[in-house]
Amino acid sequence: MQFAIEALDLVKRFGDDARPAVDGVSFTVAPGTVLGLLGPNGAGKTTTVRMMTTLTAPTSGTARVAGYDVVREPDAVRRNMGLTGQVATVDELLTGRENIRMIGGLYGIRRKDLKQLGDQLLEQFSLTDAADRVVKSYSGGMRRRLDLAVSLLASPPVLFLDEPTTGLDPRSRNELWDALRALVRQGTTLLLTTQYLEEADQLADNIVVIDKGRIIAEGSPLQLKQQAGNASLVVTVTKAEDLPAAQALLAKTGAEVFVDTGARELTATAEGLDDMVRVAGWLRDSNIAVDDIGLSRPSLDDVFLSLTGHRSEEEVDA
Ligand SMILES: Nc1ncnc2c1ncn2[C@@H]1O[C@H](COP(=O)(O)OP(=O)(O)O)[C@@H](O)[C@H]1O
Ligand SMILES: [Mg+2]
Repeated sequence: MQFAIEALDLVKRFGDDARPAVDGVSFTVAPGTVLGLLGPNGAGKTTTVRMMTTLTAPTSGTARVAGYDVVREPDAVRRNMGLTGQVATVDELLTGRENIRMIGGLYGIRRKDLKQLGDQLLEQFSLTDAADRVVKSYSGGMRRRLDLAVSLLASPPVLFLDEPTTGLDPRSRNELWDALRALVRQGTTLLLTTQYLEEADQLADNIVVIDKGRIIAEGSPLQLKQQAGNASLVVTVTKAEDLPAAQALLAKTGAEVFVDTGARELTATAEGLDDMVRVAGWLRDSNIAVDDIGLSRPSLDDVFLSLTGHRSEEEVDA
């Protein structure tokens, strides 16, 4: 099997809206890799995932998961995938262990196997101590981890995660990222949607950026950053009176130099390390003291801005 996931010109139209919510989306995901589907609120991420997980039928186009067609072979697709949705699926009034027992039972896992597998998943997601408490008492991060544990009961080769860390505090987010990295090391193929550029940067091998139902960019995190432009050389001089002399030195690289007088900071586009080393030498030779000098690559936020003309929205639904 060449691809674990293939989206083939997926279109979803709701009612007679002028624009489809998903408007011809195609991409592939190699087995054992992570694809980040990145886009702002309303971009069409959830709708794309719902089509790929057989929860809603495409208006046109199709997708293949683990080699099976979501339109023609939905049962086979379901047997080969797990899904953790934007909204938690676990039962609040049951304990973590009871949730696992209930959902494992629905999957038809034998009692004895289920106990062993359940214990193992609880351990893997650091929920052993909380296993016999009702989910109602869990933190947001614990719920997401339980959600993930439950969706792994059937040990699916392909896992879809819809905004897995939205609303989590930074510590829970990091814990979940670690759990996801461990899964991928074991060979799982992941597709995760996110509004967080940093999250895609941290986890994804490849990123597909969508906006208003269409793909506007794709590539590795590094490729996307390079698309947004060159690196910048940023120099903070120690004394404000050195700013004009430092500006003249930076301009010798041929770059346009921006000066932030208040911050004593100069910024210029740079080719890379060579430019930085040259400028550092000139500054030293001219006895200009610096507090800081460094190269700064564009962030994925810069990428998004350059692609869409608007910044990705901050967290909307905490
Ligand atoms: N069941 C639905 N009926 C009508 N419109 C919908 C439905 N689900 C989503 N949409 C619309 O489709 C667009 C994409 O939504 P969605 O896929 O949820 O985006 P995202 O997950 O990227 O935030 C939005 O404009 C949303 O309002
Ligand atoms: Mg969504």
